[in-house]
Parts: sequence; structure tokens; C-alpha cells
Amino acid sequence: MPAPIRKAVFPVAGLGTRFLPATKAMPKEMLTVVDRPVIQHVVDEASSAGIEHFIFVTGRNKGVIEDHFDKQVELEAVLRERGKTAELEALARDLPGPGQTSFTRQQAPLGLGHAVWCARDLVGNEPFALLLPDVLVQTEGKSCLAQMLELYAKTGGNVIAVEETDPEELHNYGVVSVGPGAGAAFPVTGMVEKPAPGTAPSNLTIMGRYILQPEIFDILAGQTRGAGDEIQITDAMLALLAKQPFHAFKYAGRSFDCGSKVGFLTANVAFALKREEIRVAFYDELKKLI
Ligand code: UTP
Repeated sequence: MPAPIRKAVFPVAGLGTRFLPATKAMPKEMLTVVDRPVIQHVVDEASSAGIEHFIFVTGRNKGVIEDHFDKQVELEAVLRERGKTAELEALARDLPGPGQTSFTRQQAPLGLGHAVWCARDLVGNEPFALLLPDVLVQTEGKSCLAQMLELYAKTGGNVIAVEETDPEELHNYGVVSVGPGAGAAFPVTGMVEKPAPGTAPSNLTIMGRYILQPEIFDILAGQTRGAGDEIQITDAMLALLAKQPFHAFKYAGRSFDCGSKVGFLTANVAFALKREEIRVAFYDELKKLI
């Protein structure tokens, strides 16, 4: 029986340069998809999959994320006074409990691998989930992380969620090569971050959900800069692959890169169309626009 996954890491220290000027003073993770910050959607995914502790790797200008996951005493007092019980209950539902969140600082955005390494003491010596907070995943049933945990319960080791990507886009992603698999899971045989156009080993890209063993931290401690002059998690995973099994998992669902303008706007449309109370009115407005 593999060790349980109790903790999740959310690296939120990036600069969000693709979304300037919106991200000049506000973290991109606080941009809203319908009426919830992107980071809240991702924490919801982790929480509904059974994660008990939420570790945020933050940086300058990201304090509002910490405030978002805290009680807002004045607001709650006003809501109570006004009898807004449904709103009060919704706020309480979204909030991890006392002691279930931790925040650490990356100090300089040296890359995703470096951000993950900054969580080493908070994670300790146990496997953990890593969720990129600017990637939202829409699924029909179980969330992406919940699907991954089901696979992990059978395989143990490390699990990377992957999806098929158009050949001309592959140079923007981490790409895995895989051996013959069973169902939606494939043993990983190699991986490369942002391969030069035409050199990708497959069309399976890493989209932002991982289950990793704690040995990744020892590798990250000595990891040098890779693609984009950043310390890359993919390079560290490749080194760990020499010692431990990795499974690539083709989850059922669709991801949206909310760090890009088109991805963010598409996520808003996709998530709005799933919301019962606005679906019909929003669809009518969309039809008029198109
Ligand atoms: P991205 O590369 O998408 O984020 O990293 P970014 O660097 O903020 O975006 P652009 O390219 O400048 O627009 C994926 C996730 O990893 C975090 C980011 O906050 C984002 O959620 N990240 C990235 C860090 O926490 N630290 C880093 O050094 C880099």
C-alpha cells in the first residue's frame, strides 16, 4: 500500500508576465474564473481529493493569496448582521481549517523546480501532490487529482498527468516519452522540457498535476538551470526517473492554461456554461456575440 498523499504544494511565486498589466499589483492566481479566484478552484480540486495540508510557495505582491485563505472577521460580522446565511456558509466551505495552510517564500522566481524545492521542509519525508495553480481542469466526474490518486493507490511511485497536444505546440511544454501501457497509464521512459520544434519524443505533454516522492527534493537541491534559464521540475523528474518509476496518466477531462489570455478566457466560458444559475442567460449572450 503506497504512503498516503496528505499534502499539496501550490507554487504561486511566478511573475505572471503574460498577463501584464493585470498582474502588476495583483497575483495572476487571484484572477477570477466566473466568481472564484483561479487558486480557489485549484485548492477545491485538492481538497475534494482528500488533501489535508495546503502549502503555498509565494513571493512579493502575493500577500492577498494568504488573506484569501483566512477568515474575514469584519465581512462575516456584516453578513451575519444582514442575515446572509448562504454567503456565510459558502465562505466557510471554501476555507481550509486552522493549521491546514502553510506559506513559504521563494524570494526570487528562479523557476518551478526552485519553487517546489522551497517547500521541502514543509512537505518533509512523504510523497506529495503538486498542482500548478494557473491550470484549471474541468472533468465530468472525479477531479484530475482524484483520478491520479486512484492510479497512485495501485502503482505507488510518481504520477504525472499528461494530455495529447498538437505537434506544432509541443515546444512550449514538458513532453514525456512512454512505453506500452494499460488503460490510461503508461510507464514513463524519458522527458524533456520545451523540446526544440520537431524533436519532441511524443505528443504527450505535462499539464500541471503531479504526485511526487520526497527524493525529488535532494535532486532539486543540486539542480542547475535548464530551458528558459530556469530551474525546471522536468529536469529533476528526469533524474529521479533513473531511480524510481513514473507513470504518465491520461486523465479524463480538459485543462485550461489560465496563465495565457486565451486559456483564461476560454476557462471562464467553459466554467460559466457549467453553472446552473447563469448557464442559460450566459449562453444567450454568447450567441448574440458570435
Ligand atoms: P508559469 O511559467 O506559468 O508562471 O509557471 P509565470 O512565470 O508566473 O508566468 P509568465 O510566463 O511570466 O506569464 C507555472 C506556475 O509556477 C509558478 C507560477 O506562479 C505559476 O503558478 N512559479 C513559476 C513559481 O512559483 N516560481 C517560479 O519561479 C516560476
